[in-house]
Amino acid sequence: MSKTNTSLDFREGIIRKRLDKINRTILVTSGKGGVGKSMVATTMAASMAKSGMKVGLLDADVYGPSSAFIFKVKDLPREDRHGLLPPVSNGVKVMSLDLFVKGKPLPISGKGARQIIKELLALTEWGDLDFLIVDTPPGTGDVLMTLIKTLGNKSSSIVVTLPTALSTSIVRRVIELLLSSQIPILGVLENMSYIASSKTRPIQSSEGKSLASEFGVKFLGELPIDYEASKVADAGDMQSLLKTDFARALVISLEKLNLIKNVELS
Ligand SMILES: Nc1ncnc2c1ncn2[C@@H]1O[C@H](COP(=O)(O)OP(=O)(O)O)[C@@H](O)[C@H]1O
Ligand SMILES: [Mg+2]
Repeated sequence: MSKTNTSLDFREGIIRKRLDKINRTILVTSGKGGVGKSMVATTMAASMAKSGMKVGLLDADVYGPSSAFIFKVKDLPREDRHGLLPPVSNGVKVMSLDLFVKGKPLPISGKGARQIIKELLALTEWGDLDFLIVDTPPGTGDVLMTLIKTLGNKSSSIVVTLPTALSTSIVRRVIELLLSSQIPILGVLENMSYIASSKTRPIQSSEGKSLASEFGVKFLGELPIDYEASKVADAGDMQSLLKTDFARALVISLEKLNLIKNVELS
């Protein structure tokens, strides 16, 4: 988009006003698909809300929206004179493209994806929030670039990876992009590191920690492969998801960042 176009985009001013009411924005990102970004973003949002904070979740994965599914929200956002009011689930205000398209396929070009993200940010009336958690799509394409540009210095990030070298080879690119875009990286989370019930490590490698140290960012810890977490996420049962080993390990990681305190999960 040219400079002239950007300055003519009336949404920028509206978005800025909305962001002024949000204390912090955290992008949950990875570059890679299927690593658990949506599981982390949703569980994190719900546990933060449970600890008493005002939390919103923007599902920015316009290609494979998952947050509304995990939160089991289906209601269309209500409209008032301030904008679109996101439905609330488990104390979290959830906004997702999926609330409008309801699981239908939606062919989206790169330009279309950029517009959707801007529309969602311009139209959603979050009100005052302590945290807006943003669930991002895989890749370093249009959506992530639009989020970085639009949220700018309001935003920091958490990077999710798997224990494998294949995963870190892709995640490394996102870390480089975030750093070059001056988006602070709060830390790296390694998901699916060990089996929750047996504590065995089916994937013998453990790449997340060295990836974090390679870039001088915090390693936030390992999250278990947790069949129960996957099952209750599939059922959209957030209250049960919060009681899993997966959620407990995630909360311990978030406590390291002082993002959450005094939350009683079970
Ligand atoms: N730690 C985990 N234990 C068990 N299943 C998991 C775990 N993390 C993710 N999953 C499952 O893997 C699939 C992909 O996770 P998801 O959060 O959608 O990944 P992403 O958003 O990175 O594409 C989902 O079905 C989810 O339930
Ligand atoms: Mg996802």
